[in-house]
Amino acid sequence: MDMLLPGKPEDPSGLIKIRKMTLGDLDQVVAIDQLSFSLPWPARSFRFELTDNPASRCWVAELDGRVVGMIVSWFIVDEIHIATFATHPDFRRQGIAKSLLLHTLRSAKEEGAIKSFLEVRENNTAALKMYRDFGYVESGRRTGYYKDNNEDAILMNLDSLDSPDSLNR
Ligand SMILES: CC(C)(COP(=O)(O)OP(=O)(O)OC[C@H]1O[C@@H](n2cnc3c(N)ncnc32)[C@H](O)[C@@H]1OP(=O)(O)O)[C@@H](O)C(=O)NCCC(=O)NCCS
Repeated sequence: MDMLLPGKPEDPSGLIKIRKMTLGDLDQVVAIDQLSFSLPWPARSFRFELTDNPASRCWVAELDGRVVGMIVSWFIVDEIHIATFATHPDFRRQGIAKSLLLHTLRSAKEEGAIKSFLEVRENNTAALKMYRDFGYVESGRRTGYYKDNNEDAILMNLDSLDSPDSLNR
């Protein structure tokens, strides 16, 4: 399932396309991950998600043929778990992450998911704001979870994919 979304008015390049991640995207996805996280995934982890993990649901955002955002999620029983998720730094604040998350949640709902779960660093204000806007609420904390700086992980749940904030945009 692909989704075409209008780009921002200030973005002359037109349309953002959300589509399934493929092995051909691997280099661009790994590059985005490395630019976005202090503990990036090795390429083999993305390869595993694409080839060997039946629970994996991986999407990319494409702009003029270039991968500008990516999300890996896991469909577990009735829940969609956001595993990793980033927009290339040159393309942030254009609604790409919102489009990716919306697409991931809608697609999971079509498959039967009723709720969502994720972990986020306590100091990641951008991501925290986005998740709260989608209706996620804090459900717990893992102290010192991130080993590079001992930062806590905030656990967030979206208990209903029918909630007005999540999918009905
Ligand atoms: C978090 C991240 C994915 C957002 O990507 P993005 O494409 O720039 O996000 P969008 O333009 O779709 O904005 C989505 C919402 O996020 C929030 N947001 C994004 N950047 C923000 C910032 N710098 N400050 C505050 N809020 C911000 C806002 O709520 C925004 O909605 P709004 O524009 O209506 O205010 C991106 O900053 C990123 O890749 N960060 C590094 C990796 C990361 O932290 N991933 C999430 C791990 S849990």
